[in-house]
Amino acid sequence: MIDDVVKLFKKLGTKDLRILTGIEIGMKDFEWVPIEELMKYTRLPYSTLEYKLGLLIKNNMVVGVKNPYEGYQIYFDGYDALALNAFVKRGTISGIGDEIGVGKESVVHEAVKEPELGLGEPQGVILKFHREGRTSFKSVKRTRSHLNDREHFSWIYAARLAAKREAEIIKELYPDISVPKLIDNNRHALVMDVAKGTLLYKTKLEAPQWFLDEIIRQIGLVYGKGYIHSDLSEYNIFVNEDGVQFIDWPQYVETSHPHADELLERDVSNVLKHFKRKYRIDMDVADVVSGIKSGMWS
Ligand SMILES: Nc1ncnc2c1ncn2[C@@H]1O[C@H](COP(=O)(O)OP(=O)(O)OP(=O)(O)O)[C@@H](O)[C@H]1O
Ligand SMILES: [Mg+2]
Repeated sequence: MIDDVVKLFKKLGTKDLRILTGIEIGMKDFEWVPIEELMKYTRLPYSTLEYKLGLLIKNNMVVGVKNPYEGYQIYFDGYDALALNAFVKRGTISGIGDEIGVGKESVVHEAVKEPELGLGEPQGVILKFHREGRTSFKSVKRTRSHLNDREHFSWIYAARLAAKREAEIIKELYPDISVPKLIDNNRHALVMDVAKGTLLYKTKLEAPQWFLDEIIRQIGLVYGKGYIHSDLSEYNIFVNEDGVQFIDWPQYVETSHPHADELLERDVSNVLKHFKRKYRIDMDVADVVSGIKSGMWS
């Protein structure tokens, strides 16, 4: 089911977006953004602000403290709303659908984008919200009294940085490497094309050796460009009738990384283990790795 994102923003309203933006900006300087700062930024009277903040807290968009002073932080749903608002304004998203993946480090939704110039059909796309700081944020909430100044911004910063890294590498690799095309990036969120086919772990291939060769060839092409995926497995590889697509890139490294060899070996080994277990295909990790490094596969 696809919901109209604009409806969400009607519920949210421009004042709410302004409050969320005010908190986001304030969090550059404050662990908890003081109510006085928000009053200045939003130019709303105290009573209106308090009422609106109450609703935002209820909707998991904001968290607040009363001690040692009244202050607020944006929470993930609020940060999601700001990113969505940016996408809607730029026309890269017009509707948001079901959650299709919740990883440790992200929440992924199907979504739609209106066609260019309003011609043709809306296009299905993927909306990925990074969540890298989530676990640390929970512990931050528990232990915040011990925090130093630099740590207060960590979860927004971590999620935003991961999204930027992922957006940049996808842009760099596309179209030479088979990855979904990047459509947009804002804050901790990405909009990209839907990967073709199904995840490798969910399917039973009729020509497994052909797909394995194709996966190794792609790893080789990525390596040839100077990168290693570093989280490759049957859970991050899509297979379709034309070939394969790799997703989930924020942890990539450059081939000059001090642990590059181990990471490449782990990627290859994850893939080979899957093909051995499921299809009884036996290839030697060291052979494949040396083939990749010598450019044999690219
Ligand atoms: N471009 C895409 N096309 C189709 N589905 C996608 C796409 N990107 C992500 N998904 C879906 O969302 C899930 C999570 O995405 P991704 O692997 O990028 O994030 P993650 O949080 O790092 O996941 P995990 O921690 O489970 O590895 C994927 O397993 C896949 O089902
Ligand atoms: Mg993944």
